[in-house]
Amino acid sequence: KIYNVILSGGVGSRLWPLSRKQHPKQFLKLFSGKALFELTAERNQKVVDEIMVVGNTDHIEWSQQLLNDISIPKTFITETAARNTAAAIAFASLAVDAEDILIITPSDHLIQNQDAYEKAIKEAIELAQKDFLVTFGVVPSKPETGYGYIEYEGKDVLSFREKPNTETAQGFLERGTFLWNSGMFCFKAGVFLDELKKYQPEVFEKCVEAWSISENKSLNIEASLQIPSISIDYAVMERSKKIKVVPAHFRWSDLGSFESLYDYLRSTGHSVDENGNMVIGTEIFTAFVGLKDSIFVYTPDAFLILQKEKSQDVKKIYNQLEKYQ
Ligand code: GDD
Ligand code: MG
Repeated sequence: KIYNVILSGGVGSRLWPLSRKQHPKQFLKLFSGKALFELTAERNQKVVDEIMVVGNTDHIEWSQQLLNDISIPKTFITETAARNTAAAIAFASLAVDAEDILIITPSDHLIQNQDAYEKAIKEAIELAQKDFLVTFGVVPSKPETGYGYIEYEGKDVLSFREKPNTETAQGFLERGTFLWNSGMFCFKAGVFLDELKKYQPEVFEKCVEAWSISENKSLNIEASLQIPSISIDYAVMERSKKIKVVPAHFRWSDLGSFESLYDYLRSTGHSVDENGNMVIGTEIFTAFVGLKDSIFVYTPDAFLILQKEKSQDVKKIYNQLEKYQ
């Protein structure tokens, strides 16, 4: 059986104040009236047998509502505490048979060109059947520090480096033998669990323990808090010897920051003034004087004014906020 596991536990803090704790970016109806979460399920229902959402209890009803029109079976695993992606994927793996194939996808990416997407997924499933952990590689266009980098030769992965600093990323780009990790993965549930057990025995054991006392696929908070918080990228992808990569010949955008949202909105005709300034979230006339490549973000209770190239720093502001999170 093939599952699409939709990871939906993040807050999207780099898109504050559009994205909030109680209103994360994957649920924002920013894309022709649809949310990224919805688009993710629509895209995947054609290639899998069942959709499995892993996300916070607070958002479960919202997720269910957004998936009303999805006709294939749906399952929800609810977390009471976010313990990062290694744990979220471990729960999904424990919920199915070891031989089942999981297509792990974030809930907050924009992907265009369905045909190319389906082709890549098919290719990945074939490799996953042979017990590989499959990644999807995107040709990098800048030394982005928020991504993982895959050093590759054909479909083989020589190394995986999560979130390098700018100089290292620049070096990877110059060498030309690296791809960005798209953040999607495909593997057999049992193969992932074996690798997790091998490289992160504590995460593995604590996840098994928490899962064993979960009720109706809802995780217990005390047991969850015992699980070390680490992403799949650091926990398994940087270490495993069983990784393959499939090229992603589809248009991919991690709308992770205002810079990528800006690029996306601009490409769809959202207006920008002669100095590259953009307003998001309001129709109120706004003028920029002496500013270049700036973004003004309007929400009813909080504004953000930023220089586009400082987009990664929004997370810092978010982490300092007590109110308005
Ligand atoms: N259920 C659940 N629980 N989901 C989670 C949790 C959690 O505790 N933490 C994060 N997620 C979800 C997020 O909502 C998102 O959909 C996905 O998992 C990935 O988490 P991010 O926090 O967005 O990761 P990232 O963007 O820093 O890095 C990952 O994605 C990049 C591409 O966008 C990595 O895989 C990088 O290697 C990759 O390049
Ligand atoms: Mg992300």
